[in-house]
Amino acid sequence: MASLTIRKLDDAVKTYLRLRSAKNHRSVEEEVRVILRELIEGREEPLTPFAVPSPAPTPQRTGALAEASVTLIIGGGIAAYKSLDLIRRLKERRIEVRCVLTKAAQQFVTPLAASALSHERVYTDLFDPQSEFDAGHIRLARDCDLIVVAPATADLMAKMANGHADDLASAILLATNRKVLLAPAMNPLMWTNAATRRNLAQLQRDGVVLIGPNAGEMAEAGEAGTGRMSEAIEIANAAERLLRPPMPKPLAGKRVLITAGPTHEAIDPVRYIANRSSGKQGFAIAAAAQAAGAEVVLVSGPVDIDDPPGVTVKHVESARQMLEQVKAALPTDVAIFAAAVADWRVANEGEQKLKKTAAGMPPLQLVENPDILATISKLADKRPRLVIGFAAETEHLIDNAKAKFARKGCDWIVANDVSPATGVMGGDRNTVHLLSRKTGAPDGEIAVDSWPAMTKEQVAIELVAQIAKSVTGKSLESAS
Ligand SMILES: Cc1cc2nc3c(=O)[nH]c(=O)nc-3n(C[C@H](O)[C@H](O)[C@H](O)COP(=O)(O)O)c2cc1C
Repeated sequence: MASLTIRKLDDAVKTYLRLRSAKNHRSVEEEVRVILRELIEGREEPLTPFAVPSPAPTPQRTGALAEASVTLIIGGGIAAYKSLDLIRRLKERRIEVRCVLTKAAQQFVTPLAASALSHERVYTDLFDPQSEFDAGHIRLARDCDLIVVAPATADLMAKMANGHADDLASAILLATNRKVLLAPAMNPLMWTNAATRRNLAQLQRDGVVLIGPNAGEMAEAGEAGTGRMSEAIEIANAAERLLRPPMPKPLAGKRVLITAGPTHEAIDPVRYIANRSSGKQGFAIAAAAQAAGAEVVLVSGPVDIDDPPGVTVKHVESARQMLEQVKAALPTDVAIFAAAVADWRVANEGEQKLKKTAAGMPPLQLVENPDILATISKLADKRPRLVIGFAAETEHLIDNAKAKFARKGCDWIVANDVSPATGVMGGDRNTVHLLSRKTGAPDGEIAVDSWPAMTKEQVAIELVAQIAKSVTGKSLESAS
């Protein structure tokens, strides 16, 4: 069977996989497995790059929408009763379970109980004409994401270590190319016996993963020691860790500052100048950077969105307050200025509510606000290593963004068209262009990378992926 290297895929496919896997809280490799399984099962998931990922399926009784599947081999030990609970624990985690019971296991639990709990047929016999007409033991060995052996008896471990295949369980274990998780359970003397030690060492060399055994009281009266099978929850958690490795954290140890939302510039105590920024894009970037492991400070103007969990949020009103909080947050490794900061404020802010008078409208004099992006980009001391500005334009998007790039002294500009027809301001989707200096090109040459229309969350994930690559050299799929 050929293997697949994610790194070697097209950039568009990698980006799609990265976005989809991040959205579904899976590793990229796991996401590829899910996509292939969906294809085989005939689910119509759009496969075009940058399609909006569908939400994770709700728990299902049948396997069709389960996210992962396990072949659970139950060996002949007292602890087999705990494996019935294990079936339940795995299914709670949306893991489909197909059980195989050894002959000895059936002395401890019945196939009927395993079948009732797994909602699947249970397999017990290597020479079963019903399942072997198409080599059923090979299907049980390979049509799953993981094999769990619980309890793993001393006998099963010996068979595995020596490559036996004289019953269904051992034949599956010999024929599989999936990871195998063993939960040994046996008398402490069986566990410490030199033969079991040898078998265990061989199995570990073969790449088998072990959970337990734990120390404690044994079923045999008066006996205690190491040999108790791990609890069902421990085994289910270990299986889940193997099936769904934690998301990579390429920005771990990095500090990221983000500004978001509009600013409100007071005219008098009750009126202000504002803009239509919702803050959604900046908040999405803060959440994505936090998920990538960064320590995130978000300085936000007035918005109607909940603070992202795990992010330090500083709420401000005006551009001057925003600059103050931005400076207070330094030093950071990265600074992303996504806020729509008002360019001007009212010079003669009324101390009291302005009144209508016979003299007509009171004159509003405007003065320029501090330029937060330029100020931080040009800092001699404490300048973040990567400074990213946003250019919200309503016309001549790229030309205006290039001019802004030249003026501000930042490292990247994310340009987006915010003219009313695009629905970007306040909406959930965005079409952006990432401007950066061409590497190795003469001074001033700017590369423009135009991304397709995406949700603001997807833009955030992709931007964070680019940031991680630039700051740490790690990609979202390879970092750990
Ligand atoms: C009451 C009883 C309890 C047993 N408990 C265990 C056990 O916990 N672990 C173990 O390795 N063997 C245990 N055995 C021995 C196994 O059942 C025996 O080695 C059997 O051949 C294992 O078959 P299997 O590995 O195909 O399931 C027990 C036997 C009996 C009679």
